[in-house]
Amino acid sequence: MSSTPTPATRPLAGRQIHPLGLGCMGMSEFYGPSDDAESLATLQAAFDLGVRHFDTADTYGLGHNEELLGRFLRTLAPARRDEALVATKFGIVRAPGRYERRIDNSPAYVRAACDASLRRLGVERIALYYCHRRDPQVPLADVVGVLSDLVREGKVGAIGFSEIGADSLRAAHAQHPVAAVQSEYSLWERSAEAEVLPAARALGVAFVAYSPLGRAFLTDQPPAARDLAADDFRRALPRLQGEAGAANLRLQQTLAAVAGRLGQGSAAVALAWLLQRQPHVLAIPGTRRQGHLRQNLAACELVLPPPVMDELDALFHAGQVQGERYPQAGWAGIEHQPSGGRAA
Ligand SMILES: NC(=O)c1ccc[n+]([C@@H]2O[C@H](COP(=O)([O-])OP(=O)(O)OC[C@H]3O[C@@H](n4cnc5c(N)ncnc54)[C@H](OP(=O)(O)O)[C@@H]3O)[C@@H](O)[C@H]2O)c1
Repeated sequence: MSSTPTPATRPLAGRQIHPLGLGCMGMSEFYGPSDDAESLATLQAAFDLGVRHFDTADTYGLGHNEELLGRFLRTLAPARRDEALVATKFGIVRAPGRYERRIDNSPAYVRAACDASLRRLGVERIALYYCHRRDPQVPLADVVGVLSDLVREGKVGAIGFSEIGADSLRAAHAQHPVAAVQSEYSLWERSAEAEVLPAARALGVAFVAYSPLGRAFLTDQPPAARDLAADDFRRALPRLQGEAGAANLRLQQTLAAVAGRLGQGSAAVALAWLLQRQPHVLAIPGTRRQGHLRQNLAACELVLPPPVMDELDALFHAGQVQGERYPQAGWAGIEHQPSGGRAA
């Protein structure tokens, strides 16, 4: 286990890039109210602090998130704008105000979604274009086929898959190089360690860890379901409910105690654990706030000694975390769970 500082960059889509990107989803929905001016200031602060990887999706705020990122990109001088590696996604189709979704990977849909994302982002090419969720009605080869056509046409720089299974990843990569897999991964969500993470590592495919702060649960401000805004999706998270919520909160308190012993915040420790545990993984913590952004980036300066890494591993091992990571509607199109992986 490494006890050296996190390298300044890691490979992603043909670039060497800061290991922490910025997850932009919460700037549009899912985690309570947001303020565009504050979000734009946070995007600028991230760029100024060296972050170059910005993660969005067409479904976040039903286009709002991509438009917001487009507004930010337009404030940058053209040469600086080219430094930003914007990743977006297609495939989750929702009605306004609804969490429930259907998944669409049909080639005609992918083409239309790509054109719409290009327009909203105001770019000529999407640096990294992910299939957000797999649609079992559409053969994987057809999805890779249309994505590789988009690469040939210059609309997309590199392709990726979110929440894909290891077998599908290998098949897709054999057909066209897959630049990245994006799946949930954090101290409290380790199921990717069984198959997808090792498969990505073996293939030389980057692994991008989403929700690396456990949707704020691994910070010093863990959400309690009852206190969240009515439209905050975490109200329905099984891991925040009832006995599971109480048991998980005890884990969070222990994490906070470990962080306190080190004179650090929980978020920085959770991210430092991730970056040290997985030397080929990049993470995209999400925040709307500059203060949180700075706390999160501090993880790259932090070296957790091996006994602390072991302590955290043991604290959050699979049997300890209670409850599934998604409510039922959230499982649509998720492939990567190995058998039994749904129960935490
Ligand atoms: N591929 C997929 O299916 C998928 C699914 C989910 C997310 N994602 C991507 O991954 C990104 C990150 O995941 P996420 O946003 O779901 O979860 P996350 O990064 O684990 O946590 C984000 C939450 O933590 C809070 N937070 C961040 N830093 C904090 C700090 N230092 N102290 C206290 N609270 C802090 C944020 O609130 P504030 O805004 O108030 O800081 C927000 O509520 C998303 O933005 C999105 O781009 C992808």
